[in-house]
Amino acid sequence: MGQDALDYFLSALGGLFRMRRIYPPGTKQVLQLANQASQRLADWGRPVRITFLGNDTIIEDRRIETIPTPFRALFQSLQQLGFESVQIEANTGEDDLTAWIEKVVSKDRTPYRGSKIVAGSLRVERRAEPYSVLTRAVTGYLGFLAEAQEALSDLESKKPEGLVRAREIVSAIAARLAIGRELFEPIRELKDFDDYTFTHALNVCVLSSALARALRVSEEMVNAIAMAALCHDLGKKEVPKEILNYKGPLGPNERLLIEKHPSIGARLLLEIPGVESANPLLPVVAYQHHMGVDQSGYPKIQGRPPQYMLHFTSLLVAVVDIYDALRTVRPYRPALSVAKASTILIKDAMSGKLHKEYVSSFLLLLNVLAAGRGVVLSDGSRGMIVETHTGYPLCPMIGDESGRVRDLSDPGSPTIWEVEEDTTSDLQ
Ligand SMILES: [Fe+2]
Ligand SMILES: [Fe+2]
Repeated sequence: MGQDALDYFLSALGGLFRMRRIYPPGTKQVLQLANQASQRLADWGRPVRITFLGNDTIIEDRRIETIPTPFRALFQSLQQLGFESVQIEANTGEDDLTAWIEKVVSKDRTPYRGSKIVAGSLRVERRAEPYSVLTRAVTGYLGFLAEAQEALSDLESKKPEGLVRAREIVSAIAARLAIGRELFEPIRELKDFDDYTFTHALNVCVLSSALARALRVSEEMVNAIAMAALCHDLGKKEVPKEILNYKGPLGPNERLLIEKHPSIGARLLLEIPGVESANPLLPVVAYQHHMGVDQSGYPKIQGRPPQYMLHFTSLLVAVVDIYDALRTVRPYRPALSVAKASTILIKDAMSGKLHKEYVSSFLLLLNVLAAGRGVVLSDGSRGMIVETHTGYPLCPMIGDESGRVRDLSDPGSPTIWEVEEDTTSDLQ
């Protein structure tokens, strides 16, 4: 068997790894790929040796310039975990392959000594890191991140396969969100993760899905919103990285370039076969997400009719988009705390730029507008939220310092001016 057989095996192994990050162990998708990988290995018929040395990847004795997409995510994980050498026996069965992939998926850095697979360091054995719930959550998140990266790269090159991949991610995210808030944790923890474009797209997708669910839209609509959120910034691929990461205030020309990303994104999406018919919301949200409820943002529509309405998804995604951008470290500023980011959302809602109800529901979802949270009101007084009520966005009942309870939904009441840091939580 020639080199192709080895590539087929590594592609199946990479597929097993990617599937396992989305689907739980033992599911049909995972079992199928494990079986396929062991068959492909049998076709190859020889042991496989993979070595990572610095930035070099060596398969057998071949140095690989660019790791092929099907097993790139697996190899990147192995490198990130500090593995330098992986040896797989020719007769390794699907159970052994699955057992080892489980270790990689769970980000286990300890050297692996199976009967058929040995993986570890070429020199010094590294100490294992404590395994925690957060590690598991981050691992799950990174799985989605790698998938999102691949889907978005496909879409950037106008490949319709990207739509299929995006749909898979969105349904897997929906399934995770239905179980619990596990996916929220890494969004909180990874705020200085370096690959901003993709973490931002994934975060906006996860948080928009959660907000859409909280607003009780149909499951079908939640998925459509999640897809649109994932692709909202696709047009940024045309904006030079130096401008996106510029440290100082931008000049008018640079600003103009950034402000083109909504129309570039919408146009790019419309050129992907299948988008206009099956996912019409994608270009709409890409185009409208910076416009603002009061249309104070961009792009500006020349001679627009006064009743020009934005799609509610664009307004929903806009809330999450601003929040995630504020919560992330950027080259030109540090990440803002939850309280500071929430204060900005409230100010933007009060000024008419963001949708008040969506901001309110989002802050409820994040547990920011919750009983016990300290706030400063627009009349300068301080107080604590004692109760929130539905139907009156951003107008909870506040207990002030003199023990008086004020209902902010009463006409003439002050508004929330600032959300105070939550000293009881590590969510800063
Ligand atoms: Fe954007
Ligand atoms: Fe964005």
